This record gives sequence, structure tokens and C-alpha cells, in this order.
Amino acid sequence: MLKIMRARDYDDMSRKTANIILAQVILKPTSVLGLATGTTPIGAYEAIIRAYERGDVDFSQVQTFNLDEYRGLANDDPQSYHYFMRKHLFDNINIDLDHVHVPDGSNADAAAATTAYDQMIEDAGFCDLQLLGIGRNGHIGFNEPDAAFSTGTHCVDLTRSTIEANARLFEREQDVPRQAYTMGIQSIMHSRMVIIAAAGDEKAQAVRDMCQGPVVPSCPASVLQLHPNAVLVADELALSLL
Ligand code: GLP
Repeated sequence: MLKIMRARDYDDMSRKTANIILAQVILKPTSVLGLATGTTPIGAYEAIIRAYERGDVDFSQVQTFNLDEYRGLANDDPQSYHYFMRKHLFDNINIDLDHVHVPDGSNADAAAATTAYDQMIEDAGFCDLQLLGIGRNGHIGFNEPDAAFSTGTHCVDLTRSTIEANARLFEREQDVPRQAYTMGIQSIMHSRMVIIAAAGDEKAQAVRDMCQGPVVPSCPASVLQLHPNAVLVADELALSLL
């Protein structure tokens, strides 16, 4: 059963999400965090940076694993999730860059890149807390609607709906990579706590399917109903169909 934390709007959702992550790191300074990209977590990352600047939290012993990365982009490409994370979080807090991990989209050898990533997550003892956004089609990470739930980190073909949704962040739609490396559903479910952040009415149907629909791989996020400690932090618009 997903717990639901209601937020008024995007800013309120961002602060509530940040507060849970901050509490995790304050209570356990050696936390392993699973992090997400997308527009949704940017406000939470800003709130985390403000708390760091006030001296409320120390990231020097934290390790992080990001959910996903586009295949074929160099790590310093401004469209890469490596770049996104440095810009929106890592370059603004005292995290050790040797402790941060994002799947290596520049490695064309998918089997090698994804196996190595799973081994690192396992060696770190899996995540204490995994932050997730949700795609309009119910995807989490880049686990697209499918015939079965995925297991470990793997290479995926992005769906048309995801390419179209993410095209707003690229100059032209044809620039959006067609493949990505993503943690699997099983890797996500290994995390001891999961926070799903959602805002805006374009997420309302996916939020409804995730919370109230059947647990089916055609809505990958629905599997979170089976997680023992998953919290949805969402604004009124994203909750409007519940
Ligand atoms: C991308 C990411 C997801 C993210 C989703 C929603 O596809 N791979 O991790 O949750 O987009 O993004 P946004 O928060 O911008 O709506």
C-alpha cells in the first residue's frame, strides 16, 4: 500500500520531498541514495542545496546511484543525466564525486555497462532511499510499459510517448536518444524506502494507475503498491483523479 503525502503545489511537494531525503542523510550520514532526473525533482534538489548552505546536512560520506542515462551520450554532454546531476545537485553540495554513480551511457557495450552498475549497487548494499519521478505512461526510471517487470539494470528502447515528452528538453525531437540504460524494477524494489514525487495534471492518470490500478507491467509504477515502505509525495493536480 502506497502512503500518500499531499502537497499544495510544486514548491510544497519539493520541500516535502527534500525534507525526507535530508532526514535520511542526517540520521544516517553514510546513506546510499538512489536519485532521479527529470523536471520533477529539480525543486527538491534546490531545497537540499539550501539546507546544505545553511549547514544543516553533510554529504561527505553519502553515496548515490542514479536511475538511468541515455545511451550514446558522452558524460559531459549537456543533455546527459551525468551533466544534469552535476548542475542541479552534485556541484552545489559537498559530495565526493568518487561516491556518485550514473550508468555509463558513453559505453556502447550495454552488457558490460549494465552488469558493472548492478555489481556496484550490490556492493554498496543497495539503496537506503530511492527517489523516483513518474512518466506520463507510468514508467519509472526508463522502465517502459512492458509485458513483464524487468529485473536488473538493462538497455531499453524508449517509447514514442517518452521520446515526445522528453523532446522539450532537446533542440529537436530527432536529437532525443532512442535508447537508455536504466536500473530495473527489481533494483528499485531493493531500496529500503522509495519516494515517488509527482506534480501537475499531466501526471494524474499515471498516479491513479500506480495507486489504484492492478499491479501490472503495462504500468511499471504499479509495482510500488507491493513495496513495504513507499511514499508518494504529490501536489493537488497530480492527485486530482484519485
Ligand atoms: C524521464 C526519466 C524519469 C522521469 C520522467 C519524468 O523519462 N527517465 O526518471 O521520472 O522522465 O520526467 P519529468 O519529471 O520531467 O516529468
